[in-house]
Amino acid sequence: MLTGKFFVIGVTGGIAAYRALDLVSGLVKAGAEVHVIMTVGAQQFVRPLAFESISHNRVHIDTFETPPGWHYPHLELARQADMALIVPATANILAKLACGLADDLLTTTVLAMSCPVLICPAMNVHMYLNQVVQDNLSRLRRTGFKIVDPAVGPQACGDEGPGRLADVAVIMEKIKKVLEPKKDLIHRTVLVTAGGTCEPIDPVRYVGNRSSGKMGYALAETAVHRGAKVYLVSAPTRLAAPEGAHLINVETAEQMYQAVLELYPQVDVVIKAAAVADYRPRVAATQKIKKKEAGLVLELEKNPDILMELGKQKKHQLLVGFAAETEDVINHAREKVNKKNLDLLVANDVTQPGAGFGSDTNIVNILYPDGKVEPLPEMDKLALSEVIWDKVQQLMVDKKIYAAD
Ligand code: C5P
Repeated sequence: MLTGKFFVIGVTGGIAAYRALDLVSGLVKAGAEVHVIMTVGAQQFVRPLAFESISHNRVHIDTFETPPGWHYPHLELARQADMALIVPATANILAKLACGLADDLLTTTVLAMSCPVLICPAMNVHMYLNQVVQDNLSRLRRTGFKIVDPAVGPQACGDEGPGRLADVAVIMEKIKKVLEPKKDLIHRTVLVTAGGTCEPIDPVRYVGNRSSGKMGYALAETAVHRGAKVYLVSAPTRLAAPEGAHLINVETAEQMYQAVLELYPQVDVVIKAAAVADYRPRVAATQKIKKKEAGLVLELEKNPDILMELGKQKKHQLLVGFAAETEDVINHAREKVNKKNLDLLVANDVTQPGAGFGSDTNIVNILYPDGKVEPLPEMDKLALSEVIWDKVQQLMVDKKIYAAD
């Protein structure tokens, strides 16, 4: 589980700093790549050379010292990290992180991180129990930091109580727990649609759209990892099918309609991330249409609205739609939640940079049938797919939808 994972270990200035050596050693032995950041105070207790010898990497100390090929050390470390730990964490670093200060390499790096950050406090018992420190810890917990509680026992200063750094074995267990993939979709059968449909004009041309399929493929991949049986009904894309998903290739909206409706009775959730053409050429010519002097008029007819039909036939299933809008996003999306009988709708303004077609990231609002709108920050499509499955899983629990196992 730890092999190849990139860890950033922040060491701050407490007597327990030497115990971080054991943690770094354990991680390296388990096959992890470990980069240590030391504060000025930490270097009073342990020399950087000790960490360098064990981690086999240079210790990072200075915000303005850039290793070769790295433009910004804090952003590079934050980008690459799968997990960060602060071992030991002094009262000072807790206060700085709780306020969002960024006055050295460690604080600046942590502020830029999107990976899990585990904080392992260690300090004198009276400092630890001080209300200000406890308030900072609560704030950090609420913000999403994970805290490994200190152990209780005799302290280096002679006092006794909570404040000793947690055992390295306990910290290791916590690391494994955080990295453990969620398997909360086991026994669930889900259907994801992806890509943009192609509606034939003649044997060589079609009416299409700009969907890359990335969002739907990310949703399918995440669901496989979380243990679901996944049907991926995909209109043409350039993407490789996620390993473990049952791929059903389709081209047109009509074919997608047939495939989705056939699977519908046996699935618990449908997420319709595909961009389905609302119209198709009324007649698809059997031979290539020849160029003529005059213009060409294509007559279009309406495609079935797959999601609307799923909404009408809904029994136990949860239905999630996507709405790509270019104006008045929330109002248009709100209408769709009700009209299509959806449980969730993921709406995005595809004109925004960082959102929508082709991009690796997305900026969305999640809408619920009761009118609630939840805006989410710009996210990588894989990270967003995790959030969407979290919401779906929570809805299944709330609605007491039991998996058929
Ligand atoms: O109404 P609109 O096309 O904006 O709704 C978008 C949602 O409806 C998407 O989830 C899309 O997959 C689905 N849809 C569909 N069939 C159509 C058009 C859209 O299932 N013909």
